[in-house]
Amino acid sequence: MNKLTVQSLQWTGSTLKVLDQRQLPDTCRYDEYSDAAGVADAIATMRVRGAPAIGIAAGYGVVLSAYQHCSGVSEGWRQRVTADIEILAKSRPTAVNLFTALDQMSAVLAQSDAAPAALLACAEKIHADDIAANYKMGELGADLLANAKGLLTHCNTGALATGGYGTALGVIRSVYSRQPVHIYADETRPWLQGARLTVWELAQDGIPATLIADSAAAWLMKSGAVDWVIVGADRIAANGDTANKIGTYSLAVLAKQHGVKFMVVAPTTTIDWAIENGGEITIEQRHQNELLPACYLTEGSLVSAWNPVFDVTPAALISAIVTERGVILNPSEQGVGSLK
Ligand code: MRU
Repeated sequence: MNKLTVQSLQWTGSTLKVLDQRQLPDTCRYDEYSDAAGVADAIATMRVRGAPAIGIAAGYGVVLSAYQHCSGVSEGWRQRVTADIEILAKSRPTAVNLFTALDQMSAVLAQSDAAPAALLACAEKIHADDIAANYKMGELGADLLANAKGLLTHCNTGALATGGYGTALGVIRSVYSRQPVHIYADETRPWLQGARLTVWELAQDGIPATLIADSAAAWLMKSGAVDWVIVGADRIAANGDTANKIGTYSLAVLAKQHGVKFMVVAPTTTIDWAIENGGEITIEQRHQNELLPACYLTEGSLVSAWNPVFDVTPAALISAIVTERGVILNPSEQGVGSLK
């Protein structure tokens, strides 16, 4: 099994350490949290980001809440933990992994013998299951890439965005260990997950990568250098429509135009079984300050910014959805229901 080179989250036994991804690649610094409100803030401010990672962080946030409120003879600790779960649920809206994890934690909390130790066991299981799913998806995805020579990925879907190893980046790690392949990563504006995180994470593993501007993707595909675009997901609807980092939809349209295949890699915790299609997915809008240069921010400025941070790729543009339970080829023909 491959070793994990970087950990976005570390449970210390009494606190959660979160690698502040806003400061990478310049500074590798962990912040330490001892309550749920702190973890919710770390998610909202994107110290920790990536759909599986925020679900895992939220799980540990619930444990911290239980540790805080279930000491001594405190009555009503479960209500206080429930209130903290509501705070965690408001941290970010699009990645369903957050809500899947909180639902699992809530189910443990609702048991008659609920105890902090049971909540910790659940959070640790969410974490361990995610890592195991990533290794499984890495192999399943790599099996589809036997003839691939060039891969383009978007955003950061690696160990930083998950419990470890990664989803789309896990497939890239696995295929790189099998055969020579050229990896392209796009910058992923405006937050630069590709430029700041993905190429850094690959370099930690000694895997070379070529960074491109987002706007170079069409020309790269036209050159014939890319066989597959490989991305992660934040929420997949029952029909296979997939929400992921803004710019994913553009890549899927471009891939179709250029005869490039398009792979989505996500654990089943990213599937929202309750929604029929991508039209039901809430797309997070972040503050315009993340997009506008500071000089445009003066009071009364005529310049504003529109900053949706996810988009939805229709299933019809997706060649394969890879999960730990198996691969769905051409998901527009059957959706993802067979994975349930
Ligand atoms: O806004 P972010 O950085 O949290 O967005 C992350 C993504 O869109 C990832 O592609 C997705 O969460 C999959 S990560 C394994």
